[in-house]
Amino acid sequence: MLELDALAVGWPGHGAVLSDLSISLAAGERMGIVGPNGAGKTTFFHTIAGVLPAQAGTVTMGGRPVQAGQFRPDIALVFQQAEDQLFCPTLIEDVSFGPRNLGLPASQAHARAARALADCGLAGLEDRPVHHLSGGEKRRACIAGALAMQPNLMLLDEPSAALDMRQRRRLIALLAGMKQAMLIASHDLELVLELCPRVVLIDQGRICADGPARDVLGNAALMLAHGQEVPHSLTPHHGTGHAHVRNCP
Ligand SMILES: Nc1ncnc2c1ncn2[C@@H]1O[C@H](COP(=O)(O)OP(=O)(O)O)[C@@H](O)[C@H]1O
Ligand SMILES: [Mg+2]
Repeated sequence: MLELDALAVGWPGHGAVLSDLSISLAAGERMGIVGPNGAGKTTFFHTIAGVLPAQAGTVTMGGRPVQAGQFRPDIALVFQQAEDQLFCPTLIEDVSFGPRNLGLPASQAHARAARALADCGLAGLEDRPVHHLSGGEKRRACIAGALAMQPNLMLLDEPSAALDMRQRRRLIALLAGMKQAMLIASHDLELVLELCPRVVLIDQGRICADGPARDVLGNAALMLAHGQEVPHSLTPHHGTGHAHVRNCP
């Protein structure tokens, strides 16, 4: 469904950030994108979403090339900072903004938004000002805004950042129940393990590994070489104690 071929990307006025990225993603497939800060994960998402143009190579979604600046309702980006995404006075206005922008009549846009809010556990908060939502509610509001577009691909940038345990668990259950294909960029490797059968490791704008999640995340030498740690649940435990390989002195 999504094909990236030899993609190279840079920000205007800066050098290349991503080089030679080639990935295919099937309909409904969930893939984790992991890598250190500055590796290029957010840049990658902005390119797939058509915010940032490719300097070389192509992005094709559903057989059609993604052109920067062109509106693609089949691809939904959920920003890392909810405040970057939510901008309307009330929650229902925010979540129905996308469907209204698709040209749907107000009643249909409202119905889609109300459904997405209910799916995300936000029914009853329709008229709440967005800045009066908690962090977890804001995150789910952003996901509702994406869902209301009925996309085939969701790009989730650090979705569990700054959530407490209960909100994080709720997020995982929500994402696990969704049928859309997803790319999930995260440092929360346990979340990635739970949701994504496949993982791509990016460092310095290049793909360093692409394979089954347990193989990539469980490869201690690979993880160490790219500033990562094998997640706790893939670390062998002997007796009552255990030791993680330390990256830093
Ligand atoms: N708006 C921007 N303008 C210029 N450079 C940027 C911008 N956003 C990110 N970068 C640069 O792109 C590189 C990759 O950043 P980013 O994609 O945010 O990485 P990650 O999401 O993996 O932490 C970094 O060197 C960063 O400084
Ligand atoms: Mg980022």
